[in-house]
Amino acid sequence: MSARILTKRELIPGMTSQMVLHAPHIAHKARPGNFIILRVHAQGERIPLTIADADPASGTITIVFLVVGKTTARLNLLHEGDVIPDVCGPLGKPTHIERKGDVVCVGGGTGVAAMFHIAKGHYLAGNRVTAVIGARTKALLLFHAELSRFCAEVSVATNDGSMGVKGLVTDALAERLSRGPEVAEVVAVGPVPMMQAVAEVTRPLGIKTTVSLNTIMVDGIGMCGACRCTVDGEMRFACVDGPEFDAHKVDFAELRNRLEQFHGQERAELERFKK
Ligand code: NAD
Ligand code: FES
Repeated sequence: MSARILTKRELIPGMTSQMVLHAPHIAHKARPGNFIILRVHAQGERIPLTIADADPASGTITIVFLVVGKTTARLNLLHEGDVIPDVCGPLGKPTHIERKGDVVCVGGGTGVAAMFHIAKGHYLAGNRVTAVIGARTKALLLFHAELSRFCAEVSVATNDGSMGVKGLVTDALAERLSRGPEVAEVVAVGPVPMMQAVAEVTRPLGIKTTVSLNTIMVDGIGMCGACRCTVDGEMRFACVDGPEFDAHKVDFAELRNRLEQFHGQERAELERFKK
């Protein structure tokens, strides 16, 4: 189905944008952890985007995307009032949310926006949520104010030390875990190396850890196999079995290899599009 863009805001000019879409059919069913697949034009590539927020009352969903290739660059050329011709969702299994106590939600870069909906879901279920968010520099940090509205604590790490701890988001996570209280679950969304590093911080502590895998996707309904990944030694399809999996069981090396396969092509297409 198509969806009209109600608002568009460049969160980081030329790099990351947020759109609120009128998509009541998706907004009514969307749960934290779900994603959509959209096409910017009828012959366009299908791209998956995590639903950053959903409001059934207004029939809207929020998406946040990083301009990484031709399709996201095209999407970023659209304005308020424009219509995206094909928006399919909600897809994927929602996050498993129940009342469990202290939950730490980790987000890196654009992944912070995708983590927001999950953190909000845990908060609404009665959990005490700590957000641990990281970016290369303060100007690239997303959703700090939004998370501060309901999180008991928001820890920040920037690579250059312009805000919060100087270092990686895993440094801020390790600091939070070292001072208690006991954490029931850590959820991490962001670049694959970040999610892998989070898994290695929590593994020795025995803390249940969930990651949302941003695999390549085509159909999003379990038919094409593009999103395959290995979890606990078994092949899984991120679109229907995930996108969330036990971080301690994901084969991150394989995931990184599969994602890197198309980086060159993606960059070349983006350069061609810019000309
Ligand atoms: P980035 O490369 O700027 O990294 C953001 C932060 O993540 C860093 O500042 C650091 O704190 C942390 N980080 C990165 N690598 C790390 C490592 N090896 N160890 C520990 N921490 C590390 O991020 P970006 O350029 O905004 O890229 C966003 C990425 O998030 C993209 O790869 C995108 O595909 C991914 N993403 C994933 C999802 C999802 O659902 N999993 C959703 C949105 C975006
Ligand atoms: Fe095709 Fe998952 S995207 S099987």
